[in-house]
Amino acid sequence: MVQAAISAIGHYLPEDRMTNADLEKLVDTSDEWIQSRTGIRERRILKDPTKSTAFMASRAAEEVLRKRGIGADEIEAIIVGTVTPDMFFPATAALVQANIGATNAWGFDLSAACSGFLFALSTGAKFIESGRHKKVLVIGADKMSSILDYSDRTTCVLFGDGAGAVLLEPAEDGIGIIDSIERTDGSQWDVLCMRGGGSLIPATHESIDQGLHYITQEGRSVFKYAVTGMADVAVEIMEKNNLTADDIRYLVPHQANLRIIDATARRMGIDSEKVMLNIERYGNTTAATIPLCLADWESELRRGDGLVLAAFGGGFTWGAVYLKWAYDGCDVAIHPELVNVLAN
Ligand code: UT7
Repeated sequence: MVQAAISAIGHYLPEDRMTNADLEKLVDTSDEWIQSRTGIRERRILKDPTKSTAFMASRAAEEVLRKRGIGADEIEAIIVGTVTPDMFFPATAALVQANIGATNAWGFDLSAACSGFLFALSTGAKFIESGRHKKVLVIGADKMSSILDYSDRTTCVLFGDGAGAVLLEPAEDGIGIIDSIERTDGSQWDVLCMRGGGSLIPATHESIDQGLHYITQEGRSVFKYAVTGMADVAVEIMEKNNLTADDIRYLVPHQANLRIIDATARRMGIDSEKVMLNIERYGNTTAATIPLCLADWESELRRGDGLVLAAFGGGFTWGAVYLKWAYDGCDVAIHPELVNVLAN
């Protein structure tokens, strides 16, 4: 069977850092509270008001093309996981398509909050597995600072901006995305949402005055569901595939809260050195957290490494992916070992 393997990774992080000390000047919070409750020290913020999610996504996509050594015209589909699209329509994927010059690609956005990249990855994999496409770009990108209320201490300390992108290509059996689980439960939609600006509450002076264009979260409720949801699905994918902790080189968890990640690793029986963790530096970048982890750890990864990706987010949405890594880590153009791995 043809499987979809990640054949290159790219990422984009804005240069500007917002530290916990910076936030102490904006809201009644402390470095101690933020670090002990979340694990975050700083996050990146895209300060330039003329730059957007599509800008970051395009930069990440360009890095993918550069590293894989292919032209944008070879891309056949672009899926962008995001809850901060540049605008309702056209899709951010269309803007990325134009920015990078992917003249032969179609594309669409996928809205699944913090599970956006994971859902986009499993969707993109289906296009490869079915034989429909040979090169699919999957991107997770969010400019969370564009929907944060910097007077609300319960949300503004948590999130940051960033983008990560991967290329999916066909691979031989046993390498690539082996399995995935996706879940949605909309009954709790209102504990983590942005109420305003859609067809239910179109933007008006009143909706703006009420701050309905900002993200709101009942942190404690979300925490309760996230801590069990992410661990449950990670354990479920291990059981489904008869995996023990020894079969897993890395857990790649969505980075919302260090305590949620620790609980997931504990339930899986995974030691902390096998957990990708960069929440300290980037905060919660929503759809970008998982590809940003992969980008940070790329040089450590080896062909055949077992990875479990797991996410939980607003919706609720949650899920897990089990994959076998396709190439030995490197960060310069064209992975020579892919010649043997990818089934052209
Ligand atoms: O990524 C998408 C999914 N999202 C998540 O997975 C997030 C899940 N939730 C969480 O990670 C945690 O609930 C938070 C980090 C958001 C909050 O941590 P918590 O331990 O659940 O705190 P809490 O919301 O129960 O608040 C505890 C106290 C409250 O004060 P009182 O009521 O006990 O007096 C809050 O008002 O901390 C207060 N608080 C803060 N204090 C200082 C809330 N935010 C802050 C803050 N600085 N930034």
